[in-house]
Amino acid sequence: MDSGRPTTERPIVVAPSLLAADFARLGDEVAAIAAAGADWLHLDVMDGHFVPNISFGPAVIKALRRHCALPFDVHLMIAPVDPYLAAFAEAGADHISVHPEAGPHLHRTLQAIRALGKKAGVVLNPATPIESIAWALDLVDIIMVMTVNPGFGGQSFIASQLDKIAALRRLIDGAGRSIALQVDGGVTSATAPSILAAGADTLVAGTSVFGAADYAAAIAALRPA
Ligand code: DX5
Ligand code: ZN
Repeated sequence: MDSGRPTTERPIVVAPSLLAADFARLGDEVAAIAAAGADWLHLDVMDGHFVPNISFGPAVIKALRRHCALPFDVHLMIAPVDPYLAAFAEAGADHISVHPEAGPHLHRTLQAIRALGKKAGVVLNPATPIESIAWALDLVDIIMVMTVNPGFGGQSFIASQLDKIAALRRLIDGAGRSIALQVDGGVTSATAPSILAAGADTLVAGTSVFGAADYAAAIAALRPA
């Protein structure tokens, strides 16, 4: 798939997902992943309601903040989401990403994230169309394509989303402002090349990084040769 621009023109951001870390040693894990060359730390917040799993909340993020200087890329899989935005901002989130399905007024939610001084992201589930964000692009700093259904790490990459990534690359290039195009779910050294070729610039990877013996090698393996 040709995005029209060589991937080498875009610096690739790697954002390991803490969901696959050893939860008994989180402070050590975030320090280790930063030392291994991670660009952002991806934090998956799940409520057992919006998605069928429960992970961690703002208290854990706040505790990790002093162990890690990386940008905290917080992926909220909770509904309702609006009542908790301030808590995640205060806990130390740098980016707050939400699903359109997590509230009735996506535009208002994005305004609220920006009013908190944070970068605002929108996450598209595999069945969610890109049109859901077309009229809120001016408020968006990050668009994330889910290449698994949200809720669990270690699932298989859904290849049908490559065309969505390519379509979003065209939309972003036409928007004329900087918006990160992030991919989350089943990202490995095997799937990363096609994801990057489709036009993504930011890779979230849980199992393939925190599940590896050598974090630095696992992160390096996701970047273009
Ligand atoms: C899933 C999460 C992902 C998850 C990815 O709902 O949003 O960030 O940690 O895990 P892997 O990389 O194992 O698919
Ligand atoms: Zn995530």
